[in-house]
Amino acid sequence: MAKIVAVIDIGSNSARMAIFEKTSHFGFFLLEECKSRVRVSEGSYENGGILQEYPMQRTLFALKEFMQRAKQKGVRKIFCVATSALRDAPNSSEFLQRAKRECGIQIKIIDGKKEAYYGAISCLNLSHQKSGITIDVGGGSSECALLEEGKILSMASLDIGAIRIKELFFDGKNDVEGARNFIKQELQKLPKDYSHKYALGIGGSIRALSKIIAKERGVAFLHGLEVEAEYYIDFSRKISESHNDMLSEMGFSEDRVDSIKSGALVFCAFLEYFGIKKVITCGVGVREGVFLSDLLRHCGSRFPKGFNPSLKSLLDRFEDKKSRAKEIKKQALQIFDTLSSFHKISEKYKASLAIASRLSLLGERLGCHSQSAHSAYLAFNGLEYGFSYNERSLIKTLIEYSGKKLPKESRFKSLSLKELKMLCSFLSLAKILSYSPRVQYSSPATGVLQIDGAGHLAREQILKVVKNLDFEVAFESKNILSNKLHPRMTF
Ligand code: LMR
Ligand code: MG
Repeated sequence: MAKIVAVIDIGSNSARMAIFEKTSHFGFFLLEECKSRVRVSEGSYENGGILQEYPMQRTLFALKEFMQRAKQKGVRKIFCVATSALRDAPNSSEFLQRAKRECGIQIKIIDGKKEAYYGAISCLNLSHQKSGITIDVGGGSSECALLEEGKILSMASLDIGAIRIKELFFDGKNDVEGARNFIKQELQKLPKDYSHKYALGIGGSIRALSKIIAKERGVAFLHGLEVEAEYYIDFSRKISESHNDMLSEMGFSEDRVDSIKSGALVFCAFLEYFGIKKVITCGVGVREGVFLSDLLRHCGSRFPKGFNPSLKSLLDRFEDKKSRAKEIKKQALQIFDTLSSFHKISEKYKASLAIASRLSLLGERLGCHSQSAHSAYLAFNGLEYGFSYNERSLIKTLIEYSGKKLPKESRFKSLSLKELKMLCSFLSLAKILSYSPRVQYSSPATGVLQIDGAGHLAREQILKVVKNLDFEVAFESKNILSNKLHPRMTF
């Protein structure tokens, strides 16, 4: 597969291009993303689906520039798919020919099932949540897929989308009742077994809603954001009662103001119909699905178990060749295990400790000063796929406080400050001791970490951090060090 790949998705509202760069066999990151609200479906719904001239021209202009940008970025392979508006259009072949002639682009129109499949594949591989119903609210249609522990159980596509509902029921009238009935009728076409606690939200309308909620909650990313479904339903009710000027004030972009009422209506109808309790926002969707089904074509469209493409591509791009990070990870986990009956921290945090340790030196090429801060920043921003927002924040905190200082508060609901400090100090000790690969850990008494084989410099450094620890450290001389002892006494 080419190193730099572009995927263009011509949705009924927006056309978007994502450019992915592969950093190794399966490691990759999103190099560039651009979008244009071409609204190719405009005016088609009241005209038997026929694409109108201006919307077609707008889309061709955007595609031409997408192609130029792709070339500038060194793209070697381009996939272009089109969804609902082109699916419905009796004149789609005219558009396809013009795109080929004027932009040099080969567009593939995908059916609703395939569209649902791409959404499902992107969530299964790139979201931390592997069970739930994907809901992709588009401009012309919406797609769903029922996922259970990493498997796609079924898929569906319905002809309800933000622009279709807007043009049929809201433009020039305000037929909310008519829109609701139309949506309700479409929902009846779904397979009967569709219900779940979790929804994985995909598409421009859902992202627009999540963006505002994320801002309110001081959360930096959309992908991996978890919010109660009730909140979306209340928020959508507020939106449906607001004037368009108010929507801009609420923070919706100009591009979104005229379609968010219908988009939110469709989304909430799904949430209520499926009995969803929690929504996980997915920044990924059809584009990532197209890219992944090519990248993973020889392995059943799934990454190998335990593989994370963001973690891999961070290491590919930023890790120093002589890094001690693997040794740090090994030792941090050994300390965790050695003291496990004392700290009783849930095993699930061990995975975060492992990743934080592995990435704890990522920023070392920027220089040794503030290295923890640099590494934490790179990890937080680079661990895009496969993590919840909380996991990403925890990994960042562990790396940030892997030096002499420990955190003063815990913002993690199920992790007390004492536990958080403990995890940070395991990483901090492992960093210090990683120069001594023959070091051995044991726990001769509750709350005591015995370290055998630490070098002279390591002992000296540990003495500087030992006063902050919630457990005691002993070296093979059997001297138990605590802040009460004069450091020099141990040598
Ligand atoms: C689509 O139709 O899938 C997209 O255009 C969605 C959107 O709202 O931008
Ligand atoms: Mg779409």
